[in-house]
Parts: sequence; structure tokens; C-alpha cells
Amino acid sequence: MSKVKVLFVCLGNICRSPLAEGIFRQRVEERGLSDRYEIDSCGTAAYHIGKQPDSRSMANAKKNGVLYNHSARQFEVDDFHNFDVILPMDDSNYEDVISLKPRDSRARVVKMRDYDNLGNGSDVPDPYYGGEKGFQEVFDILDRSVNSLIDSLELRIKN
Ligand code: 4NP
Repeated sequence: MSKVKVLFVCLGNICRSPLAEGIFRQRVEERGLSDRYEIDSCGTAAYHIGKQPDSRSMANAKKNGVLYNHSARQFEVDDFHNFDVILPMDDSNYEDVISLKPRDSRARVVKMRDYDNLGNGSDVPDPYYGGEKGFQEVFDILDRSVNSLIDSLELRIKN
């Protein structure tokens, strides 16, 4: 069976989307599903290309039992052909991604919090300028969203 290719997108690719990628990677591993997925993340902006994830995000994730790393890259039009599901973190990321979508792309673009039972389709807030509480809030939002995203993808794979 071919792998499902999942891409998480935020603005800088140093806070939200690499964390979403890291949580997804860990949760599929815990469920014994790692070989079914290809996972990556990127940002709509170019500011942080090549940088490691925000150290505050990584420290908070570690407290929650999730270790990850990533080198930031910018979203590119080819991603529409290389990924099946593209998950922007907020409305602004969603609009930026959709505005580049080629007509022949079959990729699904779904806002991350559409998978959050407590989210009502709202944004994953940007924790960049906030404190520790913000990082934990983002971790909890992403963990809920990632788990129900995996549930939903697994149902599609089986059916
Ligand atoms: P991210 O957070 O989009 O979750 O990676 C941000 C990181 C950096 C900036 C904005 C958001 N920035 O303006 O540099």
C-alpha cells in the first residue's frame, strides 16, 4: 500500500508545524503505524529557512514526552504534488496555501483545528510571542488534533 503523505504548514516553520509533525510522528509510532506515513512540515514565510525548531517549543514538548527536530523550509508549489493531505495551522496559512494550489492538484487542504473536537475550526494560536502557558496550550491543541487526524486517516485507509 502506498504511504499517506502528510504536510503540516504554519508561518515560520519553527513553532507550530514542526511540533505538529513531531507529535504526529510519535503518535503513529506508538500505534505501530509508522510505515504507513510520510510526514513533513514547512512554513509559508522564508524568515527561518534552515533553522531548528523554537527551543521553547522543544522544551515544552519534551516535558510532554515528545522529542523531535526539524530544519525549517518554505512551502512550495511542488508540495501539492508530493503530499496527499496539507494541514495549515490558521486562516492566514490556509489562504496562502490555497492561493498557490494548481488546478490539477488532488491534495486535500484542511485546517488543523477542523480535527480538534474542542476547536470549532478555529486557529492554532501562534505561541511565538507568548509565554510557557501558550506553548502548553498549543501542545494540547495539536495533540488532540493529531490524534483525531490519525483516527480519520486510518478509517480512510481501511475502507
Ligand atoms: P510558527 O510561529 O508559524 O508557528 O513557526 C512563528 C515563528 C516565527 C514568526 C512568526 C510565527 N516570526 O514572525 O518570526
